[in-house]
Amino acid sequence: MIGGYRIERKLSAGGFGVVYLAADSEGQQFAIKEYLPSSLASRAVGQLLPQVLPEKLSLYRLGLKSFFEEGRSLAQISHGSVVSVLNFFRENETVYMVMNYLEGGTLQDFIITARDLKKSKVFRESTIRSLFDEILRGLRIVHQHKMLHLDIKPANIFITDDNRAVMIDFGAAREVLSKEGNFIRPMYTPGFAAPEMYRRDSSMGPWTDIYAIGACIYACMQGYPPNDAPQRIEKDRLSLALSRLRGIYSDNLIEVILWCMALDPLARPQSVFALQKELSRESARSYTKLTVGERVRLQFDSVVSDNKKAARKTNIPETRIT
Ligand SMILES: Nc1ncnc2c1ncn2[C@@H]1O[C@H](COP(=O)(O)OP(=O)(O)O)[C@@H](O)[C@H]1O
Ligand SMILES: [Mg+2]
Repeated sequence: MIGGYRIERKLSAGGFGVVYLAADSEGQQFAIKEYLPSSLASRAVGQLLPQVLPEKLSLYRLGLKSFFEEGRSLAQISHGSVVSVLNFFRENETVYMVMNYLEGGTLQDFIITARDLKKSKVFRESTIRSLFDEILRGLRIVHQHKMLHLDIKPANIFITDDNRAVMIDFGAAREVLSKEGNFIRPMYTPGFAAPEMYRRDSSMGPWTDIYAIGACIYACMQGYPPNDAPQRIEKDRLSLALSRLRGIYSDNLIEVILWCMALDPLARPQSVFALQKELSRESARSYTKLTVGERVRLQFDSVVSDNKKAARKTNIPETRIT
């Protein structure tokens, strides 16, 4: 029992904490996230209190405070596309965040399933547009509350069994942990993290989340993430990779990705609203007509790259660089 909730089972354990399925006294189910950063704290079998190394105590407390703040901010947001935080409390020298229990799977699971079917496209354009329209409505509210998500990626977008798209895993706690602690190296998901996240400078803003949205749309089309920002700064192959999708997806959608994923933060949509406006311009949808030769080459390229991918194994890199 924690805070009056009965823990049923562990749903997931990541670098920053554990997510449990729990139920209240009336049997209603919740997901409860516990702050337990594996680099700072551990818990022995049968113990409730985390053990924190003395030299890591101040950092542990800083992260704890920030996790608590994150819960407090999230609790003020009530939107169908943002996970609902219903309660948060301190116990066992750590913090617990009680959320609505979502049933379904992550967008990442859907991408892998769709990709493995090996069709010419992972998702239809109309599916992508309506999915991101929903996500952006939520993200706009988040930004209005002066929060950034900073880890938007398919694994942090949940698709519920009743067909809602919900953002989970808000990263304020991680942000503080990696900024203040020089022995905790920066954390970001390659492919989805904007270049300014690698620099950890003051140029982060709504456009930083917008870069990740562009990368998510890309992943929904290609089945795998784009090259990471440092690779792109070295040699940018994004346009080339996207040119292979012309004729399959509209020019407008491809341009939206290029706009969101501009390396220069100022060259991106500066607000979610600006992006929403562009994404809803259905009338602007036109397709580049491909010649027969181009189509054949496209088919050939995808066979070659499929073989290469098979050789490399087919996991989408999900690991954060830590
Ligand atoms: N509200 C929720 N309802 C159901 N499952 C959840 C919920 N929140 C998180 N999970 C599950 O736990 C996993 C990890 O949660 P997340 O918040 O992304 O933490 P992290 O990635 O930092 O470990 C998710 O991929 C999902 O499977
Ligand atoms: Mg996550």
